[in-house]
Amino acid sequence: MTHQIKDLADYKKTYEHSIKNPEAFWESEAESFTWMKKWDKVLEWNFDEPKIEWFKGAKLNITVNCLDRHIKDRGDQTALLWEANDPSEPSKHISYSELLGKVCQCANALKELGIGKGDRVVFYMPMVPELAIGVLACARIGAIHSVVFAGFSAQALADRVDDAQAKMIICSDYNNRGAKHIAVKDVVDEAMDKSCNSVEHVLVQKNGNNEVNWSDDTDVWWHEIVDKQSKECEPEEMDAEDMLFILYTSGSTGKPKGVVHTCGGYMVYTCSSFRNVFQYKDGDVYWCTADIGWITGHSYIVYGPLLAGATSLMFEGVPTYPDAGRFWHICEKHKVNQFYTAPTAIRALMACGNNWPDNYDLSSLKLLGSVGEPINEEAWHWYDEHIGKKNSPIIDTWWQTETGGIMITPLPGITDAKPTFASYPLPGIQPILLDSDGNILEGNNVEGLLCVNFPWPSILRTTYGDHARCKLTYFSAFPGYYFTGDGARRDEDGRIRVIGRVDDVLNVSGHRMGTAEVENAINEHENVIESAVVGYPHDIKGQGIYAYVIINGVPSDDIINEIRAVVTREIGPIAKPDKIQVVPGLPKTRSGKIMRRILRKIASNELSNMGDVSTLLNPEVVDEVIAGRL
Ligand code: WTA
Repeated sequence: MTHQIKDLADYKKTYEHSIKNPEAFWESEAESFTWMKKWDKVLEWNFDEPKIEWFKGAKLNITVNCLDRHIKDRGDQTALLWEANDPSEPSKHISYSELLGKVCQCANALKELGIGKGDRVVFYMPMVPELAIGVLACARIGAIHSVVFAGFSAQALADRVDDAQAKMIICSDYNNRGAKHIAVKDVVDEAMDKSCNSVEHVLVQKNGNNEVNWSDDTDVWWHEIVDKQSKECEPEEMDAEDMLFILYTSGSTGKPKGVVHTCGGYMVYTCSSFRNVFQYKDGDVYWCTADIGWITGHSYIVYGPLLAGATSLMFEGVPTYPDAGRFWHICEKHKVNQFYTAPTAIRALMACGNNWPDNYDLSSLKLLGSVGEPINEEAWHWYDEHIGKKNSPIIDTWWQTETGGIMITPLPGITDAKPTFASYPLPGIQPILLDSDGNILEGNNVEGLLCVNFPWPSILRTTYGDHARCKLTYFSAFPGYYFTGDGARRDEDGRIRVIGRVDDVLNVSGHRMGTAEVENAINEHENVIESAVVGYPHDIKGQGIYAYVIINGVPSDDIINEIRAVVTREIGPIAKPDKIQVVPGLPKTRSGKIMRRILRKIASNELSNMGDVSTLLNPEVVDEVIAGRL
């Protein structure tokens, strides 16, 4: 196993070694895995092209490391502990041996359906065990998985399928989310009607009792093809730099891009970070509440925990069903030791009152994690007092889809935890702050743009099908550095606090969204002439979506509702604007660029300090926009 940091002195020593001798450090971290062939070179890189290769020349299969290598010592241990949406449904305990068998069966079925190494498979599924099984089955045979969050619309799904030229979609027939019973397969059918011409088969996992439309040409039931397969499947030999998966994420421009992670480095980093950050010990029950549709679910429900031989809890439902005590009920029921969730969930549950957590025995909890967005001080203290009983360190973990794993975080019981601070970098991570001219801000008590100046094993390698975009987005703003898109502050003691995005990316309930993406959707409405979308502070969601629209015709509630419906259709309900203000014009610079800074201030009700508007092309609209603000 990778090194597990045990105390502060060990952290300092390990960190220093990892920075001074990164190759020696990562080589020793990588030693303990099962490789079919060891590397010729630990690292080769440049951030200019960019081209980053870790464990060059090595051969492996990540599922051998997630599953096969654990069979001898922990074959009967629960690997996945699944809790259904409906609390009366029994939990499932899938052992490492069983999981290996199921993954192999699914892998054999994929092969029978013509899927092989390098083919792309898109998942559009709720949080059922088959999602984790299917993802691992792809990895077993070298197919590249791309999980699409099942809350996205048919259009968003089709866009991702087309971009990846996926050969197969794996979905469920129904998604049970709280009291809702969503016909997931219908969404896939709609996507297939729109485009998805590369798709040869749709593999459907049965998750409901109602009928679904069926196309004999493409559709195959999971239980009909998977269950009859052999429980053995030879793992495909993969190069360390072969693609493991694509995960689409939003940027400040254009359509979401497919972030690419590769086999070797991602494996080493997710395992190493999981063991250090969660201080996982044998016998612990670890629960991350994320959806596997996001990077957190990939790295810290599936890969990291399984690589480390952990018991990983997977929950199908939502925090408030059947009531606001559900999370705490699950913690009590399964004696959860490590609990990892998002600030938006904490804020939503905090608003439901203290009785809910107070009613359950939460004494098994050893640490509490937070991820996805900045955690505000009030939520941090509530989490600390009412869930952790001031007895479980809070780890505020900062990272991104592109980083593959946690980058900056306190280590529980090892480094201090200051509210709202992600604090210290993990071994191998070299964060720096730059000013807008690209000068490094040395020392403490400084604020700037968060960059990283040296590669780590799970850094993204490219954006699928468009390497130029990867270079432009992450490696061009400040040549020689990876630019995160976040602003951050280093306090007087050197702890880092991530403040939020400095680009046009929103973070709504921990979901990343590009303002341009939402604007493009809004502009699909026939009455919309132009729109501008900004974020504003929102008590529960962290950020809400505020849309300014210029429409042709008479504004009406109907049009506003239709605009919301168009966004739901184009992206999904998570992108629906909270506020839509009809405006006569948008403040623009003389070169015609929308002045978002002003719109953000108006949306946030910060009217006292609008800055200089006299250089605008149309300064008069500012007062009109203010007058009509919602
Ligand atoms: C934000 C999620 C503050 C940040 C793992 C980042 C955070 C974006 C934190 C990535 C945190 C994530 N504190 N901000 N602890 N964690 N973020 O790709 O703006 O969905 O750039 O990855 O979320 O979101 P993504």
